[in-house]
Formats: sequence, C-alpha cells, structure tokens
Amino acid sequence: MERIQKRIAASGVASRRKAEDLILQRRVKVNGMVVDSLGLKVGPKDEVTVDDVIVSKLSSLYLVLNKPRGYISSVSDELGRKTIMDLIPEEFKDFGLYPVGRLDYDTKGVILLTNDGDFMNKMVGPRSGIQKEYLVRIRGIITSDAINKLQNGVMINGKMTLPSYVVLESIDRSNASSLVRITITQGMNHQVKEMFKVVGYEVKKLTRIRFGCIKIDDLGEGKIRRLTIHEVKTLIELAKKSKILSSTGM
Ligand code: URA
Repeated sequence: MERIQKRIAASGVASRRKAEDLILQRRVKVNGMVVDSLGLKVGPKDEVTVDDVIVSKLSSLYLVLNKPRGYISSVSDELGRKTIMDLIPEEFKDFGLYPVGRLDYDTKGVILLTNDGDFMNKMVGPRSGIQKEYLVRIRGIITSDAINKLQNGVMINGKMTLPSYVVLESIDRSNASSLVRITITQGMNHQVKEMFKVVGYEVKKLTRIRFGCIKIDDLGEGKIRRLTIHEVKTLIELAKKSKILSSTGM
C-alpha cells in the first residue's frame, strides 16, 4: 500500500505537491469514489483516476491517435520509415505501447494504443465485435449492386466477410469517383481495400473515422489523447456484443 499522492506522482500525471492539490479539488477518485483525505493509501489493484482518466498503474495506458498517412502502425520498421511511435509524446514513450490492430501506411484516422494485453486481445481477437467505420474514396461510380454485395459479404482469400453497413455519401462525376462509408466488425488484412477490389473498385483514400465508441471528432491529425475510464469500459462492453450488423448499421 502507498499514499495516493505517491501513486499519482509515479504515474507522471502530477508532482506529489500538485497531486495533493488535485485531491483537495476533489478531482481524484479511487475505485469510482472521490478521495477526500490526503492520507488515503491504495493497493496495486485500486483504480485511481484524475478527472476520470485512469492514472493508477504505470502498466495500463490507453491512448487514441489520429494517424496521418505515411506512418507505419508498428513500433519499429526495418525499412526505416516513420512509425506511429514517432508521434508519441515523450511522456508516454516508456510504457511499452502497442497499436491495437493495424492501419495501412497510406490509411489515416483512429488507432488505439495500449500496453494492456488483455484489452488488446478483447479489441482485436476473433470474437471481438468492435465496429470500425471508414470513409472510402474510390475510383469510379459505385453501383447499388456493388453496395449490396459489400453489405452481404464478399469472398476474400477463401473467406466470406461478415455483413457490413454501407452508405453512399456522394458521387463526384467530374472526377469519376465515389465517397462511401462502410462499417465492418472484422479485422482481416487490408479488409476494406480487398472488399472494394472484389466488387471492382480501387480505393484511392481510406480514413478510419471510428473504432467502437471512439470517433476522430476534433482530435487533430497526428494528435494523441488518453482515453477516459468510461471510454475504456465502454469499449470492453462493445467487444462482447454481437458481430452481426443489422441493416441500420447498429
Ligand atoms: N482496411 C484496409 O484495407 N486498410 C486499412 O488500413 C484498414 C482497413
């Protein structure tokens, strides 16, 4: 057991002195209860939050990055290309972070990072039903037949994709291209590009705009933020839900 201000200071969120101020401002909770004593002691399993963001264990960090194009989503690259680790601020560098799943080098948008292996498995494992929503700019004018096929499932490398939810956002006739929004629940390799290829379209630009409950919102390109405890818990709940999307995309 250790004093709560020591735990907060160890997590790098604030100095001990500042941690005391945070406690007095009632911004610190232990296991969901506001802390009102500077003398409180916490054990390794206690969940400490400041402003509802988990700070309790150095070993549990959950971040979301708005990945720009031109970055590999791994911790290193043998070809020396830029990786998402180049976008991680110093304060998070020693936490042993890994990306939750992958985005291609030329795909941008929402990618989570964590050092919590359990959480990772729940998000990317074969039974995870987390929805991933993409904006896809394709070459050509998409047909309703292609949209139906994408929704019902297409064959990629001998495997049928699960139902997806597809919305035609706009058609640009002068440039002969279409903007399509697709929500999928699996994470096959290059799944979105492959799905469009099967129905005869080349993906020109791909952006992931949502992972479960985490949207890009106003997170700038290349920017990172911590997930709140509420977001982490919601993601875990979502991962338990059914993988099958209904025709409304829910
Ligand atoms: N599908 C793809 O084809 N690429 C990505 O980066 C993500 C999903």
